[in-house]
Amino acid sequence: MERSDLPKFQEWLNDPETTEGLSHFLPVSMADEESWFDQMMRSDAEQRPLAIEIQDGKAWQLAGNDGLFHLEWTNRSAEFGIFIGDKSRWDKSGTEVLQLVLQHAFDTLNLNRVYLRVFAGNARAKHSYEKAGAVPEGRMRQAIFRHGQYIDVHTMSTLRSGWRKGREGK
Ligand SMILES: CC(C)(COP(=O)(O)OP(=O)(O)OC[C@H]1O[C@@H](n2cnc3c(N)ncnc32)[C@H](O)[C@@H]1OP(=O)(O)O)[C@@H](O)C(=O)NCCC(=O)NCCS
Repeated sequence: MERSDLPKFQEWLNDPETTEGLSHFLPVSMADEESWFDQMMRSDAEQRPLAIEIQDGKAWQLAGNDGLFHLEWTNRSAEFGIFIGDKSRWDKSGTEVLQLVLQHAFDTLNLNRVYLRVFAGNARAKHSYEKAGAVPEGRMRQAIFRHGQYIDVHTMSTLRSGWRKGREGK
């Protein structure tokens, strides 16, 4: 990710339709983005979010970001997070992004488990993750408060063994 990506992230993170599925809910200023970027650059390289860029003809267009965080080297586990801010890319990108991040997690970082949290009503995200091979795992009841009510958060995960089998089956 580059500092020059921040204006797009700021625009997208102020779109309520995009943040509906994210834990992030307050308006974001450029100062917030700058300070987030500076802090992110001080973290370990493996934990830094990655820009999502999609090839359009010859050019690569920024579409959002994703990443692995809460890395636990002893347990060889990490959490996955994603947002695609360019809504013209919705319904055609997320599965491939997760597949690429899983490949990075298992084949490069030598992790064993990648898990994610998704709000109960985020059907698009759940479907996207299932297509990438993530398996429903559990439910955190009333874990988030939104629009005046509590909602459940579902957890899903992919283990290295299942991911390998899925690849061999193709
Ligand atoms: C969640 C997100 C990453 C998914 O990526 P995407 O490119 O939109 O989704 P994908 O193309 O990978 O898969 C979506 C699938 O769900 C389907 N879908 C869309 N809306 C749906 C709905 N309301 N109910 C059920 N399925 C739905 C799509 O048709 C597609 O399935 P198909 O390929 O079989 O037709 C992306 O939409 C996003 O960033 N949203 C905003 C932020 C967010 O919610 N982040 C996730 C936090 S957990």
